Amino acid sequence: MNIILLGPPGAGKGTQASRLVEQRGMVQLSTGDMLRAAVKAGTPVGLQAKALMESGALVPDEVVSGIIGEALDALAPETGVIFDGYPRTEAQAHSLDTILSDRSRTLDHVIELEVDEDALVERITGRFTCGTCGAGYHDLFHKPKVENTCDKCGGHEFKRRPDDNEDTVRTRMAEYRAKTAPILPIYEARAIVSRVDGMADMGDVSASIAAILDGEPA
Ligand code: AP5
Ligand code: MG
Ligand code: ZN
Repeated sequence: MNIILLGPPGAGKGTQASRLVEQRGMVQLSTGDMLRAAVKAGTPVGLQAKALMESGALVPDEVVSGIIGEALDALAPETGVIFDGYPRTEAQAHSLDTILSDRSRTLDHVIELEVDEDALVERITGRFTCGTCGAGYHDLFHKPKVENTCDKCGGHEFKRRPDDNEDTVRTRMAEYRAKTAPILPIYEARAIVSRVDGMADMGDVSASIAAILDGEPA
């Protein structure tokens, strides 16, 4: 099964994708995570992406479609994939069709997380992750059980994304509205879009997504 999680910055794509990885053994392909790794490693892709990401602008289509193709080639053909943050433009949506059909994969579901943009600013500016294992947290909604200690690995170092400030978040949201939301009709025409209330509790969002993947009526 191959699915797309679609939604504006802070909608919960990464949170829900990592739950699906744990619960179903699917693989999460987050172009944002892959680009951040490239920036950190100082690769040519990273050098090209760094300033764009810090401003909240999109990285060129051919760059992200290239890394998605390479990432898929590294997976066994039967591995289920969650596309998190890709595709983000019409050109990327068309590239994904080719990338999937070249590899005899189909797209089964596009799940749109519906959220209230003003609440997202609070979500994003409160977000942090474990510097050791990458587990995600939030100042208000998901604090480590023991202060300053990662629930998963016991690490004490945490980090915040450089693009998680209010100005950049507003730019990222504008990019979503202008370029990403308009790709939904492509998938609506194929009748593979489902909508989930992304403002619900994280567990309820996960349950709604599970019902869609398991083919249960809403
Ligand atoms: P990317 O990394 O994809 O960022 P994004 O789309 O802005 O989304 P986020 O990762 O910020 O949010 P999320 O939906 O994953 O939310 P999360 O689960 O963390 O992209 C970053 C940049 O890379 C782009 O701006 C662009 O420059 C570039 N890029 C990436 N892909 C690209 C592409 N395809 N084309 C071109 N450029 C590309 O949740 C957020 C917080 O809220 C967390 O703290 C979480 O704990 C909390 N939370 C989650 N769910 C809930 C809930 N239900 N209730 C309460 N809190 C919740
Ligand atoms: Mg994310
Ligand atoms: Zn950790």
